[in-house]
Amino acid sequence: MQSGYDHHAQDYERAFPAAFRGPWERHAVGAFAEHVVRSGLPGTVVDVGCGTGHVTAELAARGLPVVGVDPSESMLAIARASHPDVRFEPGDANPESWGAALEAEAPEAPVAAVLARYSLSHVPPERVPGILASWADRLPVGGAVLVAFQAVDGGRAVVSFDHAVAPAWRWSPEVVADHLTRAGFAEVWRTVSRSDAEHRFPECHLLAVKDAAGAPPVPVSRGCSVDGC
Ligand SMILES: C[S@@+](CC[C@H](N)C(=O)[O-])C[C@H]1O[C@@H](n2cnc3c(N)ncnc32)[C@H](O)[C@@H]1O
Repeated sequence: MQSGYDHHAQDYERAFPAAFRGPWERHAVGAFAEHVVRSGLPGTVVDVGCGTGHVTAELAARGLPVVGVDPSESMLAIARASHPDVRFEPGDANPESWGAALEAEAPEAPVAAVLARYSLSHVPPERVPGILASWADRLPVGGAVLVAFQAVDGGRAVVSFDHAVAPAWRWSPEVVADHLTRAGFAEVWRTVSRSDAEHRFPECHLLAVKDAAGAPPVPVSRGCSVDGC
């Protein structure tokens, strides 16, 4: 739980009034949405750490059955007020917290895909492998995840950074891809953009699908240290 977002929700909304800060962000989410539609998998798309809900609303506008979950009640309040036709529920990156979000659809409702845009960045690194494994448990074969995160350019696996709102970490795209593979996903594509006037750091969007072969026999709960996974 990151209480920072409860205190700074209005500031966050003022700082990021639009869903996307550049065409590649919009296209990455668009490509994810198209991938989910083409997969034909039934079930809900879960927008993990949906924040003020603007990207959840973009997915809903594309006709996807989507629910946004977030641990911050203040962010959820803005999301609900801004997008009254879209569903937002309390929850975090752990699928065990998605009960309320999914039960409105049906008990044991299937999850078709997961979007986690700049929210996994707030999960302590040692918990990330287990979270990815729990997404793989919750998704059907072919179910997609799109993760977006601030990246490190070679060198370290993961480093903390001075995020304005809450503790946060930047990841090597290669290391995130490796953790996804160990959790039972196969990478489909990734984009890595350079820092610019709008973005302090390189940023990565990475799409992976749950592999038919399942997770390789490597314990995903092995964890990692902040300085070297
Ligand atoms: C930078 S905002 C991103 C919001 C939204 N995904 C977007 O792209 O606009 C990060 C969000 O992650 C949420 N968050 C923090 N810790 C989280 C966790 N452990 N699991 C899921 N979401 C979390 C915060 O409450 C916040 O709304």
